[in-house]
Amino acid sequence: MAPEAIATATTLQAPRRILVVGGGGRENALAWALARCPEVEQVWVAPGNGGTPALAGCTQLAIEEADQAGLLAACRDNGIELVVVGPEAPLAAGLGDVLRAEAIPVFGPGADGAQLEASKQWAKALMQEAGVPTAGYWPASSEAEALAALESQGRPLVVKADGLAAGKGVTVAETLEEARAAIAEIFGGRFGSGAGASLVLEERTHGPEVSVFALTDGERMVLLPPAQDHKRIGEGDTGPNTGGMGAYAPAPLLDAQGLEQVRQLVLEPTLAALRARGITYRGVIYAGLMLTDAGPSVIEFNCRFGDPECETLMPLLGPELAAVLLACATGTLDQAPALTIAPGCSACVIAAAQGYPGEIRRGDAIRSTLEPHDQLQLFHAGTRQDGEGTCLTSGGRVLAVVAQADDFDTAFARAYAGLDQVHFEGITFRRDIGHQVRRP
Ligand code: AMP
Ligand code: GLY
Repeated sequence: MAPEAIATATTLQAPRRILVVGGGGRENALAWALARCPEVEQVWVAPGNGGTPALAGCTQLAIEEADQAGLLAACRDNGIELVVVGPEAPLAAGLGDVLRAEAIPVFGPGADGAQLEASKQWAKALMQEAGVPTAGYWPASSEAEALAALESQGRPLVVKADGLAAGKGVTVAETLEEARAAIAEIFGGRFGSGAGASLVLEERTHGPEVSVFALTDGERMVLLPPAQDHKRIGEGDTGPNTGGMGAYAPAPLLDAQGLEQVRQLVLEPTLAALRARGITYRGVIYAGLMLTDAGPSVIEFNCRFGDPECETLMPLLGPELAAVLLACATGTLDQAPALTIAPGCSACVIAAAQGYPGEIRRGDAIRSTLEPHDQLQLFHAGTRQDGEGTCLTSGGRVLAVVAQADDFDTAFARAYAGLDQVHFEGITFRRDIGHQVRRP
């Protein structure tokens, strides 16, 4: 038996001690869902947020996500059996590689696989190589090259900064002038040296967008229900883009057959192309899709869960979640229990700070009378505790209220009723999340 196979045979079925890295709403939901799994004894969250101390079975660690040495030490000190990395930045910086080198199982790709999100050029080239449907594109590493490509097309193209730009590196230009301005801005260094060094120009595609998540061990995958995000700040999908103001799942836009098509056309070929490059991708592949008249087209890949899609999906997932994530981390998904997915609908509404996504108000006390129950959750995102245990707002997206029911009308009614029980100065939210699936 090969050494790897022996290790596999003795691998734990489910992790007892888990470290979740990150401090957003996504990580709050991940920690909550993992702590609910029966074998899990304790979940540590670094750095977590103001909601971490209130999570049953969770302990907060004051270690930043960029502190690789600190996180490694915390794994050793606490006998961590699985690390789940929430955000893209530590993955792109190689946290997965550092921990795996010390034989700690990590749910999250190494720096190589994280390029799927960290470099638009790299991801586009991989998609093209794999035959994955995606908009036509022109890479450019200088302003002159970008402008020449734009002028040769003679029509506005989508302009994307190449590196991690926290969701702010994309301009869907309506005019050539707007596209030129976006190009100038990128090469003017607006997104920092990493993100500003190059870009891709893309053909504009049209259609509704949906997020699909594949949990993978590099060979096999488990698909989660498709989710629909709401990126714009304003009701009626107006105003500037945000990280996401609410979500729902399962999105009826993609039925079982549609999801299967996405597996075959997008996810399987992408995994195969990663393997062909020698990359063992262990974590989640987030495919941001546009459903065009010609079928699904990949808008972007991310190497992490979506936020707020993660908050929306976690309550639907069964108690096998910890075992499934560990199996992804150790390349043993074929031996993992099947992940139970609740048949109901999940609805999530984000409460943001005044001013979001621009300059935000912070430091306001959060008052809540919401009592979470089986079908209602309150996840914290941009919050922190002051010295006395009061929760204060500290970020753009502050809270996520999530509810489940048999139908979307009931789920959203429940989520909005929950939101009514939460207050902070300047609270900002959309009342029309899920308008696509709610009765008017
Ligand atoms: P991204 O940061 O890649 O998710 O892009 C942000 C948003 O820009 C997406 O959610 C889409 O709404 C839009 N977008 C990105 N690429 C395209 C494209 N090729 N055609 C039309 N819209 C796009
Ligand atoms: N909700 C979109 C994202 O996480 O990128």
